[in-house]
Amino acid sequence: KKSVRDIELNGKRVFVRVDFNVPVEDGKITDDKRIRETLPTINYLIEKGAKVILASHFGRPKGQVVESMRLTPVGVRLSELLKKPVVKVDESVGEAVKAKVAELQNGDVLLLENVRFYAGEEKNDPELAKQFAELADVFVNDAFGAAHRAHASTEGIAHLLPAVSGLLMEKELSVIGKALSNPDRPFTAIIGGSKVKDKIDVIDNLLNIADNVIIGGGLAYTFFKAQGHEVGQSLLDESKLDVALGFIEKAKKLGKNFYLPVDIVVSDDFSATANTNIVDIDGIPSDWEGVDIGPKTRKIYADVIKNSKLVVWNGPMGVFEIEPFAGGTREVAEACATTEAYTIIGGGDSAAAAEKFHLADKMDHISTGGGASLEFMEGKALPGVVALNDK
Ligand code: 3PG
Repeated sequence: KKSVRDIELNGKRVFVRVDFNVPVEDGKITDDKRIRETLPTINYLIEKGAKVILASHFGRPKGQVVESMRLTPVGVRLSELLKKPVVKVDESVGEAVKAKVAELQNGDVLLLENVRFYAGEEKNDPELAKQFAELADVFVNDAFGAAHRAHASTEGIAHLLPAVSGLLMEKELSVIGKALSNPDRPFTAIIGGSKVKDKIDVIDNLLNIADNVIIGGGLAYTFFKAQGHEVGQSLLDESKLDVALGFIEKAKKLGKNFYLPVDIVVSDDFSATANTNIVDIDGIPSDWEGVDIGPKTRKIYADVIKNSKLVVWNGPMGVFEIEPFAGGTREVAEACATTEAYTIIGGGDSAAAAEKFHLADKMDHISTGGGASLEFMEGKALPGVVALNDK
C-alpha cells in the first residue's frame, strides 16, 4: 500500500481522515495521545506544501448536531501542539466549507466539524463521500482507530480520490502486522477484559500465532465454570462454556501454552471499601465475586512475559479502575514495562491502564486503536485500509 510519502503533495488539497475521538471531561481533553500521534503526518504535509483539510468523528452523535460533540476544543489543542493556527469550521461539507478551502495557502491547516453530525457518515452514503471528495485532490487515511468502520469519510471517499495511508496508519499496520505475520518468539499474547464474547475471535486467532496465551480479567470465570469450578457471583457467560473448553482443547492440540489464573482476588462487594480475600480457583465463596488475578498468578504471568521476545497485551486482568482490585493489572503492566521483549499494547482499556500506572512510555507500541486493533488482531480486514488504492 502507498503512503503519504509516495505522492506529490505541493499545492494539493489533502483530505486527511484522523481519529480525534479523544476522551473529554467537562469540555477538557483528558488524554491527547490520539492528537499527538497524528502530528508526524500533519507536519509532513505542511512541510511538503499541502493544503491540509482534517476530518474526524467525535463521540456518537448519531447523525445530529450535538453542541458538546463539536471538535472546537480539539482544534485549539491541535493548534497548540502544531504551534500554528488551525482554522476550524462548524460544518464538514457545503458552500461555506468550500469557501474556506479555497482560501487555504500551501501549508495551512483546516479542521472540519465532527463528520458524525451527518447521517450519511455512518451509513457510508455515496453522496456524502462525494461531497467530501469534492473538497480535495488527495485522500490520506491516518485514522487507524476508525479503520474498522466502513464510513463515508473512512471508506467511501477512498474510492473517489487517490487514497494513501498516513504515517500513523502506516506505523500501526506495520508494527501490529509484523507481530501477526512474522513474530519474534517466544510470542506471548495476554488477553483480558470482562466479556468472553468480545474476545472469542482474538483468542482464537492468537492461539494460532502466539506461543503462549495468557488469560485474565472477567472472561476467566467462564473458563473456570466450564472446568467445573464454583465461580460465585463472578462475571460469567453461560452460553460460552463450550467455546471456553474448545480453546483449552485447541491450545493442547497446537502445543501452545495456555495460562489461566491459579488464584484470584475475591470480593464481597463491587466497591473500593469491599472486603477482599485471596483464594485458589476452587475456593470462590458462592456469595463473593472474582475481581482480579491473585499473587501466585501474577508471578507466573510476569515470568512468562519476562522470558518472551514479543508481547501483545489486550485487556485488563481485573477491575483496575478500583484500587484494591488493580494489583494484577498493575503487575502485568510492570512486567510489560520491564521485559526486554517488544511490547505492543492494544488500545482502549490496556492503554488506559498503562497510562494510569505511569508506564505508558516504557512500552514499545501503544496502539491508538481500541476496536480497530482488536479487529486487526482477530485477523479481520479493516475496511478503511482495504479501500486504500494505488490510483
Ligand atoms: C474508538 O474510539 O475506538 C474509535 O474512535 C471508533 O469509535 P466508534 O466505536 O464510536 O466507531
